[in-house]
This record gives sequence, C-alpha cells and structure tokens, in this order.
Amino acid sequence: MTRSEILNWLQEDDSHRLRELAVAADRVRREHVGDEVYLRGLIEISNYCRCNCLYCGIRASRRIERYRLSEDEIIGCCRQAAELGYGTVVLQSGEDLGLTAGFISRVISRIRDEYGLAVTLSLGERTPAELAVWRRFGADRYLLKHETADARLFHEVHPGSSPEQRIRLLQRARELGYEIGSGVMVGIPGQTYESLADDIMLFQELDLDMIGSGPFIPHPDTPLGQVDCLAGEAPNSDLMTAKVIALSRMVCPEANIPATTALATVNPEAGRELGLCWGANVWMPDLTPERYRRLYDIYPGKADAVSIHQSHERLLASITAIGRRIGSGAGNRHRRHTDGV
Ligand code: 5AD
Repeated sequence: MTRSEILNWLQEDDSHRLRELAVAADRVRREHVGDEVYLRGLIEISNYCRCNCLYCGIRASRRIERYRLSEDEIIGCCRQAAELGYGTVVLQSGEDLGLTAGFISRVISRIRDEYGLAVTLSLGERTPAELAVWRRFGADRYLLKHETADARLFHEVHPGSSPEQRIRLLQRARELGYEIGSGVMVGIPGQTYESLADDIMLFQELDLDMIGSGPFIPHPDTPLGQVDCLAGEAPNSDLMTAKVIALSRMVCPEANIPATTALATVNPEAGRELGLCWGANVWMPDLTPERYRRLYDIYPGKADAVSIHQSHERLLASITAIGRRIGSGAGNRHRRHTDGV
C-alpha cells in the first residue's frame, strides 16, 4: 500500500467503502494468521513511572498511590494464566527503575521454569544491556509503542524521549532476538491524518511482529484531560482505531495485532469484536490482581474491571460468536515459508 492509499482510507467516511477495507483486512488476517485468537495475560507489575507524559494518568508528577508487585504476586498471576490456558504473559509497567534488572531476570526465569509461558516485556525505555540480560534469561518479545511518528507532537506530549530513540531501541531488541512490537495512540490532540499515515508506513518499514494501537482516552487529571480534537485532526474514535488496525494488518500481514483494552473502553459493548473483525488476532485479558488494577490508572474507565473469571467467560463467548477460536501455545509470529527458489 502506498502512503496516499493509506491516507485516503484514514480519511474515508463512506460506510460502504469502509466495509471493503474491513473485508480485505479480515481476509488478509485469515490467510496469514488464521482464525485463532491468541490470549496474552497482561500483568501490570508497577505503576511507578519516571515519565511525565501529558496524556497519562500514572505520570510521575501525579500524586497517586504507587505499587510494585512482589515476585510471588507476579508468579501467582502467571499461575492463573497457565490455568486458563494462555500461552503468553505480558509484564507491563511504568518506566520504573525500581524494577531492577536482577528482579526482572529472576521473574522471567521462574515463569519459564515453572510454567513454560512465553514472556513479553513492556517496561518502557530500558538500556540495551538490560534487554540483553533479560533475553538471556528467556524473555521472548519486547513491546515499546512509539505512540506517534510526528517528532514535534511526540516531544510535546511525551517529554524526554523521541520516536527515533524508541525505534532505535526496538531495532536493538530485534538484533538481540526479540520479537518486537510498537503501536500508536489514535486521536492524540494535534495528531494529523498525515502523521497517522506515516505511523502505518513505519510499521511496514520496521516489519513489526506485534502492533498494538488504541484510541487516546482523555484522563481528567492530566494536562490533556480537557483538550478537544480539532477539525482536520484524527478523531479518537473506535472507527478510527479500527481503520488503523485494518491498515496495520494490510501492511504487516503476519503481525500479531491485539484488539486493545483502550478500544474496548471507548466501545464497551463491541470494541474487542470490532478490532477482531477488522484485522486483529490477539486479546490481552488483564490478570493484574484486582486490588492493584484501579491504581494502574493510565486512562479512566479501563475495560476489564471485572474479575478474571468473568472476563474469561466474556471473551470465550465473544470469540465463539464471531466464528473464531482460541489459539493454543505461544502464538509466535507466523512466518510464511517461501518454498523453492
Ligand atoms: N489514552 C489512551 N492510551 C493511553 N496510554 C497511556 N495513556 C493513555 C490515554 N490517556 C497508553 C499508551 C501507552 C499504554 C501503556 O497506554 O499507548 O503506551
């Protein structure tokens, strides 16, 4: 797909034409990654963060109760993931240097030894040396969203880093043997359609293994909590997010693409199904212990605020209702074998 085709789709609002995009993305999804929906148990291991992103509810300057899970608490969540038949756990946190390299290494080796689950890390910008150690201890994948490829906008909303810095770290992670994932927030105030087209071109250029995108959700206790999106900017809607998911599938046919929690938050009735029918093939149920979950307050109304067993029942019903099935095993990137030649 060319940049101008991508841009046209992002700006398309005819529902019949958009149906064509959804159908095309759904076909590419089926051909390349099949009907399996892979479950990744999300464990929010710490809400400490050194960053001060203007959109985020766990930003450093916000006075909130902070927590860090113990090794045994994390392992307890992994036991639940294994019991529910999930193949992967995702350890996610703010940029918390209190999570030492040694601590994370011990947790990874216990998860590998005791449950044999695949381990995805989503701990923000850590050093290449730390990523190398964690890889040696058995981590499989690294997620680091670049949020927006527009350097000026990135700098405004996420002081202290840049998209290039994040992309460099992702490339380093790939050299270390990780599967790598990025993604964007859709509808950040100030985000243009052009910059979203650049984001999707970047997914293609990086040949990402995982792409997680969700709508921007204003958090009232943050500087971006009251800012509205202007005419000519990309809206933070479920439909706009579905378009980004579909285009991500078109440019990275083999990628693992989640229907994210943020998408389910803006559309609680059908957000996950929308994502899964527009190209997504992954669902990330929240396994964070209930008493900590409300403290991982990156945006308000986070979906999955129900018990783990309730949300498991709900996801089984949804996946079956749209004619799909739960994937078993780690659900690594599906690489097509090129025969002969
Ligand atoms: N709205 C939507 N997504 C957000 N994130 C953080 N704050 C918000 C918000 N207000 C997302 C970012 C981050 C992920 C953990 O949560 O994409 O990478």
